[in-house]
Amino acid sequence: MILIDENKCDRCGLCTMVCPYDLVGDGPRLKSVAGTLCVECGHCMAVCPKEAITLSGFEDIEVATLKGRSPIDRASIKAMFKGRRSGRNFRNTPVSREDMKEIIEAASCAPSASNARPVKAYVCRDAETISKIRKRMHTLYNLMLKAMKIPGLSAILGRLEMFGMMSYALEDVLLSDSGRDMILYNAPALLAFSVPSLNPMGSGDAWLAAENAVIYADSIGVSSCFMGFFGILANLDPVMRKLLGIPRGESIKAGLVMGYPKVKYSREAPRRTMPIHWDI
Ligand SMILES: Cc1cc2nc3c(=O)[nH]c(=O)nc-3n(C[C@H](O)[C@H](O)[C@H](O)COP(=O)(O)O)c2cc1C
Repeated sequence: MILIDENKCDRCGLCTMVCPYDLVGDGPRLKSVAGTLCVECGHCMAVCPKEAITLSGFEDIEVATLKGRSPIDRASIKAMFKGRRSGRNFRNTPVSREDMKEIIEAASCAPSASNARPVKAYVCRDAETISKIRKRMHTLYNLMLKAMKIPGLSAILGRLEMFGMMSYALEDVLLSDSGRDMILYNAPALLAFSVPSLNPMGSGDAWLAAENAVIYADSIGVSSCFMGFFGILANLDPVMRKLLGIPRGESIKAGLVMGYPKVKYSREAPRRTMPIHWDI
């Protein structure tokens, strides 16, 4: 709930300008619908130069005063994006609870449709559980590979664009007996983001949270890699869901392996800018 201290307010109108739902009228006065429509995005509070606005229910959250536009300059943020790599080689050291907590705090700052914040984080750092998940993934993807080789089925699935890549990825990478763990890369931690299955915007919320996690993790020396193959089964397989503690009604969107990196990259990897369609 938005609280306006009329003694501090100098009627600058900024709170009216920034409210995404037009809930702060002139005065400033909260419109009657504010009680039900306010999504507690905190923009009115954050923009007020006089600290005249507070959000009740958030008194325990520390909010810093902002100096200037962005605390990271253009060159640094560009270098950070270009220098981040998906890590697949981890030291055999557990990721500290403190680092994990900070990573999830960063994930919690990501944009969220209607500020609904439906995303939940699942952390798995127990070596035995991770090992069980790895074995389960091996068993299920082995079954899938066998199914993909059934003549009639492979003829149908072969028409799918991803089929060739999928069968190579399963047979020659994920399930290969090269001695390297190609399923979870011997990662000491897994981090997955879920949303309520019926939330129509949840997917975007979860992926944005995950990207925040990845970027922040990199900045504190924790390497990570999105794991599509993990995410698929964490959603579909009741055994994996039980191992991770995911209840019914929640869908895993983004899954990551995490750990302190064993490998240091010497330079950026080349990336082309995506195609751009300009209007003028
Ligand atoms: C949705 C998604 C799923 C991914 N799944 C996997 C995966 O299952 N295994 C893996 O090794 N990497 C996976 N990756 C990482 C990509 O392979 C990686 O981002 C890409 O090769 C570019 O490398 P970079 O992240 O270092 O720039 C995934 C990435 C995304 C965005």
